Amino acid sequence: MDFYKSCLRPALFMLPPEAAHNLTLALCHWFPAMAYQPLIEKPTDLMGLTLRNPVGLSAGLDKNAHCLPAWKAMGFGFVEIGTVTPQPQCGNPKPRLFRLPRSQAIINRLGFNGLGMEVVAENLSKRPNDLIVGVNIGKNKNTSLEDAVTDYNKVLQRLYPYGDYFTLNISSPNTPGLRTLQQRVYLEPLLMQMQEALFLLNQKSGIKKPLVVKIAPDLTEEELNECAEIFLECQLDGIIATNTTLDHSAVLQEPCGQEAGGLSGAPLYIRSTEVLRFLSGRLKNKIPLIGVGGILSGQDALLKMISGAEAIQIYTGFIYRGPALIKEIVSAL
Ligand code: FNR
Repeated sequence: MDFYKSCLRPALFMLPPEAAHNLTLALCHWFPAMAYQPLIEKPTDLMGLTLRNPVGLSAGLDKNAHCLPAWKAMGFGFVEIGTVTPQPQCGNPKPRLFRLPRSQAIINRLGFNGLGMEVVAENLSKRPNDLIVGVNIGKNKNTSLEDAVTDYNKVLQRLYPYGDYFTLNISSPNTPGLRTLQQRVYLEPLLMQMQEALFLLNQKSGIKKPLVVKIAPDLTEEELNECAEIFLECQLDGIIATNTTLDHSAVLQEPCGQEAGGLSGAPLYIRSTEVLRFLSGRLKNKIPLIGVGGILSGQDALLKMISGAEAIQIYTGFIYRGPALIKEIVSAL
């Protein structure tokens, strides 16, 4: 019997989405062993890191690195924490998280609510060592785009000792202007400076920790082409495709379908996979890709791999399907 689907999910879905989220994180934090299910080993090389299996938890669920032992117990092959900003911030006013169960989707406009890099450093200092942990980095809402690199660099410097790879989030739709960082005028200098900063940190530590960028699904073909060119120029180590979409056309008939924010889950699958396939064609295996967006089954994950992903991440599928989805995907790949 699938305990999550038959008991836990119905109970959690009776609560408002953010209350259910907070309760789940509290349970996972205090009782990580309850989350245990036997791990399916499928060692996978990604950017020079060895993952236990290629199924990762996507950024945004564990923003403050509060539950790493629980994710490990569930059998995730890797986990991306964050988005982490330099200063703590409370995010947008509530309600800001909406379930769209008929579409197996979520809309969120959380806006980088988080405890800030100091608390995350403290939490990460107790992280399990035998699980690959990526740190997803963002800027504070009040930091201008011109100063964004300062924020990204602050978090990188502070959390470098604790992360295995670092993702620049330039694609959240809920921080005004953030996606502008995907334009050449911002992207090129940002990547150059972050590569340089990471190179010096790597040189000092003697460990090569990769730099990754997470992109939006709403870029045009022309914009994607430009991004791909810059990623190659800057010798980026990895790309995560994609973040949530602003295109709500598939869910407008749903009760919460018109809420502002990023849409994730099943309606995002086709577009995020198109972006993945397009980038895979452009990059010709020179930069590893991580596929995320709308994975709700082993079959969905398999198609992401066929479309060019070396590993995948899940968020919304995990909310709807629970830990059983991890096992199903690893078995399917
Ligand atoms: C997210 N996502 C996200 N991504 C990110 O880089 N930083 C973040 O802080 C968040 N926060 C966040 C909150 C919520 C509630 C959701 C649903 C999503 C995006 C997430 O990591 C992923 O890229 C997308 O949700 C697409 O994958 P799924 O959800 O369709 O599997």
